[in-house]
Amino acid sequence: MLRLACSTALLFVFRLLLGLPWLQVVAACLIFFFGTGGWTSFRVFVKTIGRDLHAAGVLLKVKLNVKIFAETVQKYGDKTALIFEGTGEKWSFRELDDYSNRVANLLYQRGFREGDVVALFMENRSQYVGLWLGMAKIGVEAALINFNLRLEALVHCVNISGSKAVIFGSDNPPQRGFTDRLFYIYTSGTTGMPKAAIVVHSRYYRMAALVYYGFGMRSEDVLYDCLPLYHSAGNIVGVGQCLIHGMTVVIKKKFSASKFWDDCIKYNCTIVQYIGEICRYLLNQPVRHTEQQHRVRMALGNGLRQSIWEEFMQRFNVPQIAEFYGATECNCSLGNFNNKTGACGFNSRILPYVYPIRLVRVDEETMELIRGPDGVCIPCGPGEPGQLVGRIKQNDPLRRFDGYVNETATNKKIAHSVFKKETVPTCDVLVMDECGYMYFRDRTGDTFRWKGENVSTTEVEGTLSRLLDMKDVVVYGVEVPGVEGKAGMAAVADPENSTDLEKFSRDLEKALPVYARPVFLRFLPEVNKTGTFKFQKTEMRREGFDPSLVSDRLYFLDCSKGSYVPLDAELHRSIVSGKQKL
Ligand SMILES: *[C@@H]1O[C@H](CO)[C@@H](O)[C@H](O)[C@H]1NC(C)=O
Ligand SMILES: *[C@@H]1O[C@H](CO)[C@@H](O)[C@H](O)[C@H]1NC(C)=O
Ligand SMILES: *[C@@H]1O[C@H](CO)[C@@H](O)[C@H](O)[C@H]1NC(C)=O
Ligand SMILES: *[C@@H]1O[C@H](CO)[C@@H](O)[C@H](O)[C@H]1NC(C)=O
Ligand SMILES: *[C@@H]1O[C@H](CO)[C@@H](O)[C@H](O)[C@H]1NC(C)=O
Ligand SMILES: *[C@@H]1O[C@H](CO)[C@@H](O)[C@H](O)[C@H]1NC(C)=O
Ligand SMILES: *[C@@H]1O[C@H](CO)[C@@H](O)[C@H](O)[C@H]1NC(C)=O
Ligand SMILES: *[C@@H]1O[C@H](CO)[C@@H](O)[C@H](O)[C@H]1NC(C)=O
Ligand SMILES: *[C@@H]1O[C@H](CO)[C@@H](O)[C@H](O)[C@H]1NC(C)=O
Repeated sequence: MLRLACSTALLFVFRLLLGLPWLQVVAACLIFFFGTGGWTSFRVFVKTIGRDLHAAGVLLKVKLNVKIFAETVQKYGDKTALIFEGTGEKWSFRELDDYSNRVANLLYQRGFREGDVVALFMENRSQYVGLWLGMAKIGVEAALINFNLRLEALVHCVNISGSKAVIFGSDNPPQRGFTDRLFYIYTSGTTGMPKAAIVVHSRYYRMAALVYYGFGMRSEDVLYDCLPLYHSAGNIVGVGQCLIHGMTVVIKKKFSASKFWDDCIKYNCTIVQYIGEICRYLLNQPVRHTEQQHRVRMALGNGLRQSIWEEFMQRFNVPQIAEFYGATECNCSLGNFNNKTGACGFNSRILPYVYPIRLVRVDEETMELIRGPDGVCIPCGPGEPGQLVGRIKQNDPLRRFDGYVNETATNKKIAHSVFKKETVPTCDVLVMDECGYMYFRDRTGDTFRWKGENVSTTEVEGTLSRLLDMKDVVVYGVEVPGVEGKAGMAAVADPENSTDLEKFSRDLEKALPVYARPVFLRFLPEVNKTGTFKFQKTEMRREGFDPSLVSDRLYFLDCSKGSYVPLDAELHRSIVSGKQKL
């Protein structure tokens, strides 16, 4: 009765104070009435209802609006669909359609049918989109293979995709450049072997549409896409806006920090795409007068660190950051729809069950989900870091395992079963605030103290990786007997043994303060990663810097020389005994 009265009161408050349309107001009040436990959540409710209603609208549009490329072509015919920066080539929607029809016909004649998989391994961006679009037209699935892969990794990818054929370009050998390497992290799989991202059509549509409606994009927008097309950000979130929503997309072959804003001016871009490192590179550029003269109104991407978020917006005069979260292989997508600094998305606090995602408690060391006595995962409250998962059904099918006598075995089985059937584990640990905004977070154990300072492993990893041509770098603290704090150690994946240690030492001096420079280096062919794309540090941290335990090449930062020296058994002894100064 009380809640009914409140809802009625709210009706007028919202209408008068916020000026929301009646329909939204009534909906909001109904939601409030049925969805809340009363006044406790009132404040959160007021703060978040606008956002949540917008999101609900987006979800409805994404569900209802199943436009296909044919309609886009009909509607936008001669409008420019794709511009290829570099060659300057322009394709209209009709030309793209014609090209993809020819591809479809050819493949059909050669006997390819619905459900077949064809691997696409090429760099030529003009043909790329048309090729897989053509495949899609006859139901052939395209396995988009990372163009930088070679040897076993390449064989592996093509093999697991089950492709009947591979389409490859006659391009020159790739210049293994800067941007392309950026994406190694994203395509690497659990076993160290990269995953081929196979595009599922409905997911393609869903991801592109979610971003389009969620961030309020328009078909008149011009989007600047300098991300690789074998990756979901470049291909789905970027090119998808062209195929599905009739936007003009400018495709840049390689990201160039110095030309970025000039390109935006040249093509009248209104939306730019980024991934975290791109923003950092742009900020590293000298100030240019052109960097504020563009018409970019939105930067769209993932992984912009909170530390550079506002600096980026201010310096480049970009009014909105459209940060989203969504890995290709997991279907929990999030979006920061209303320009909230630092957030990668949100979930409704009013009706959390509407969107089937949840943050649940997790052991951040082992990344195993923590369960209550009933075996069900424990949802996180505000401020509590947790792993993002798809909905976990409360009416659990765990009961059928009750019969086991051995409780350990039962729990193991349950864990397995719950994980496989009801949850979709994703790649990251996030933390939610009171209003339901979600943020990436440094995991516990990701900072350590050295020489009285806190060292963020994430930051050091970022810097080292940049100095080392985007190699995989894992940073952790190791204990040195008799020394307070933990000494920094960096494991560097360097299969080709291509690191120039002297240059690295010199660069390091400029890039990092003394306390953050790794005391120990370990070069190994490959860094192990977890199923959630996290580097596995535990084992390496345990092995430490003892050359009798580690067969990889080890180095020690000799402060007196200011450079790295090989770490042998003798040096190890002298460090452990405290003779060698750190
Ligand atoms: C890329 O494809 C376009 C369109 O088919 C073609 O005109 C161009 O010559 C190709 N470029 C290379 C380097 O193969
Ligand atoms: C390809 O995959 C099959 C099983 O999926 C495996 O037996 C075979 O060894 C793989 N071949 C290569 C060359 O990796
Ligand atoms: C950009 O906009 C200006 C003015 O609106 C127009 O003259 C110019 O042709 C546009 N450039 C491109 C590449 O569309
Ligand atoms: C987004 O937030 C920033 C401050 O965090 C503000 O300057 C900017 O105007 C906001 N943009 C929009 C579109 O509301
Ligand atoms: C993820 O996909 C599964 C199966 O396709 C579906 O049951 C689940 O609702 C999806 N989750 C989200 C958040 O869309
Ligand atoms: C119970 O199961 C666990 C895990 O399968 C096993 O390690 C343990 O030995 C079992 N205990 C008994 C008493 O069988
Ligand atoms: C380092 O972190 C600890 C614990 O979070 C904090 O108490 C301390 O003030 C920090 N020290 C510095 C120098 O930032
Ligand atoms: C790696 O390179 C260094 C010098 O660049 C050399 O001393 C060392 O022997 C090489 N190690 C291997 C395993 O090739
Ligand atoms: C990587 O994983 C493999 C297999 O689990 C293990 O044998 C190896 O020691 C690990 N390497 C490191 C550096 O942790």
